Amino acid sequence: MLISCIKKRRSIFQFQPQSVPTNVLKQCLEAAIWAPNHRLTEPWRFYVIGPKTHQKLASIYANLRAKKRANTGLSNYQVLYDHAVKKFMAIPQVIFVGQVLDSDPVISKEDYAACACAIQNFQLVAWELELGVQWSTGPILTAAETANLLGIDLAKTSLIAALYIGYPKAIPTSSRQNVKNLTCYYD
Ligand SMILES: Cc1cc2nc3c(=O)[nH]c(=O)nc-3n(C[C@H](O)[C@H](O)[C@H](O)COP(=O)(O)O)c2cc1C
Repeated sequence: MLISCIKKRRSIFQFQPQSVPTNVLKQCLEAAIWAPNHRLTEPWRFYVIGPKTHQKLASIYANLRAKKRANTGLSNYQVLYDHAVKKFMAIPQVIFVGQVLDSDPVISKEDYAACACAIQNFQLVAWELELGVQWSTGPILTAAETANLLGIDLAKTSLIAALYIGYPKAIPTSSRQNVKNLTCYYD
C-alpha cells in the first residue's frame, strides 16, 4: 500500500557497502520524472555519479567540511579532511538533482516544488525497492568546484539536492505530530 510506504520511508544515513544496481536506480529516476510540474516545464535534471567522479567529489566535500570545522579549532584540517573523505566514500551511490532556472520568480518557485515532488517520487520507489536515500543540502551543492566537475552552469541550473543512496544499515525512527493539529476544516 502506498500509505504504508509513505509512512515507513525514512531518511537513511548509514549504508551497507554493496553498490546499487543501475536498473534499480533507473526505476527510481523513471518514477521521479512522472512528478507533477506546472506548464510541463520538466525542470529536473539528474547527475548520476560514477566511481571516478565520486572520488573527486569526496575531496571537494571533505575540503569544504574540514575548512569549516577546522575554523572552530576542535581538530586539525588534515584529520577532519581524512574523516570526511572516508564518510563520503562510504556512500554507495550519489545522485545530484538540478533545477533548471527560470527568470520568472513564480515559475522558479513552482519548478522547485515540482523538483521536490520528483525527489519524493524517487525516494518512495527507492524505499519500495529496499533502498534508502538521504536528501542532503549542503555547501557541496553551491560550490563552484562541484559545478565545474559536473559541467553545470550555475547561472542556468541550481543544484538542489545531493541524494545519498544505498541499502540501509540502520533505519532511524521519526515521528510527526497528529494531523488534526495541522488541519482546519470549514463548512
Ligand atoms: C529540502 C530538504 C533538505 C534536506 N537536507 C538535509 C540535509 O542537508 N541533511 C540531512 O541530514 N537531512 C536533510 N533532509 C532530510 C530531513 O532531515 C528528513 O527528511 C527529516 O529529518 C525527517 O526524517 P524522515 O525523512 O526520516 O522522515 C532534507 C530534507 C528536505 C526535504
